[in-house]
Amino acid sequence: MPYNGGEPERMSQKISNPRGTADILPDQIPAWERLETLSRNILKTYGYREIRTPLFEEVGLFKRSLGETTEVVNKQLLEVRSQRSDDEEAGFALRPEGTAPVVRSYNQFNQGREEFLSKLFYIAPMFRGERPQKGRLRQFHQIGAEAIGRGANHPLLDAEMIALAVELLKAFGLEQGSFTLKLNSLGSAEDKAKFAGWLRQELKGKIDHLSEDCRNQYERNVFRLLDSKDKDCQTVIQGLNIGTRHLSESGLKYFDQVRQGLDHLGIRYEVSANLVRGLDYYTHTVFEISYAGLGAQDAIGAGGRYNGLIEQLGGGDPRLPGQTGAIGFALGMERILLALEHQGKSAAFKRSIEVFVVTGKAEYEAQAFGLLHSLRQAAISADMDFGGGRAFKKQFEQADKLGARFVLVLGEAEIQNSTVALKNMATGVQTSVAVGQVVEELRKHLK
Ligand code: HAM
Repeated sequence: MPYNGGEPERMSQKISNPRGTADILPDQIPAWERLETLSRNILKTYGYREIRTPLFEEVGLFKRSLGETTEVVNKQLLEVRSQRSDDEEAGFALRPEGTAPVVRSYNQFNQGREEFLSKLFYIAPMFRGERPQKGRLRQFHQIGAEAIGRGANHPLLDAEMIALAVELLKAFGLEQGSFTLKLNSLGSAEDKAKFAGWLRQELKGKIDHLSEDCRNQYERNVFRLLDSKDKDCQTVIQGLNIGTRHLSESGLKYFDQVRQGLDHLGIRYEVSANLVRGLDYYTHTVFEISYAGLGAQDAIGAGGRYNGLIEQLGGGDPRLPGQTGAIGFALGMERILLALEHQGKSAAFKRSIEVFVVTGKAEYEAQAFGLLHSLRQAAISADMDFGGGRAFKKQFEQADKLGARFVLVLGEAEIQNSTVALKNMATGVQTSVAVGQVVEELRKHLK
């Protein structure tokens, strides 16, 4: 509604959150905390340490890493402008993903000199200006892991990374049968270049019948055609019978070793020649995990190797060119929560505090307030009504709403005798306790 110059009714219009974002309300927080705690514990078991990078970075970082022709950079970057004129030299964008910022930081702080292998993780919001729909947001959250360094070149590390993603999903409550893991290898940078040439050659005569979008992709980044959503384009691609023809001998050997590592751990996967991923930095192993019950936005996580990126962004040891390897993944938290909901596993979390203090009259509130403070000092979660002496019934209703296990009542008799009535809300049993003994008595019951 246009601003109407301050007419009172219009001024009270409510403001909503931007489309494609969501408030995570207090009732939903326990489900998020559960994912976060499980992730932190498991990631630490695998030797990962948390890193927190800024919400925005120089636009150039994303252009140079994800690729100028990718959708994420081309159509979805949410750019940030400062109103200060002296800030204009660099354009900024909200980060659309976590890998490029982690590599930027790894390079900036010369981590390669400190560590043979750096294992880093993040649990953080990402931003993409996509057209919002179910499971596709403009602000969403990823749980991501990245292993970078001269020690990140072993095919068993690829297997470990994939195993870690699967382990996290299982710990959240998604059984392995309920999601699909697709795997492919793009080969080395040289393999990729040859592959692009071969694809162009094969598609040359066929591309003219395809949509304008597909023809543009053919020109700008031919790999985008492999995972195109366009039906005609898919038919043409399926006819190519790609297989692993693009891989050199060493690329093929590497891929075999990754697969053996996964077989060894009993992790099921499908090899999919069309899986290329929508970001340019990948080499060798790429993977995607999807959950069929989610409809169009069914990817719940994805990742792969990005060996060249560290040097492409100015890092790596100049005396040892080409030796810094890297691999990682990111899981989409909103989509995982939707998948858990789909499986009927979105546990309803009731809020609960331990104690609620009820007062008989407004003038007892100051004493109740003191009692409340001593409970909190003793690390007992507690609250009171702050209602100016509302009816007992109302205060008990509030205690119920908060899921209080015990209620302490301060009525006239209690004030006179320096006692409180302690009521167990589950059994209904009520006892009288001396004020000085309340904390001790509650501790016994709360054990
Ligand atoms: P990505 O495939 O772009 O990869 O995103 C990873 C996951 O984030 C997706 O599988 C999906 O679950 C979630 N996701 C992506 N976009 C949205 C969205 N608009 N709304 C909701 N969820 C979304 C990356 O971001 C790479 N950085 C992964 C990686 C790490 N590769 C190597 N290291």
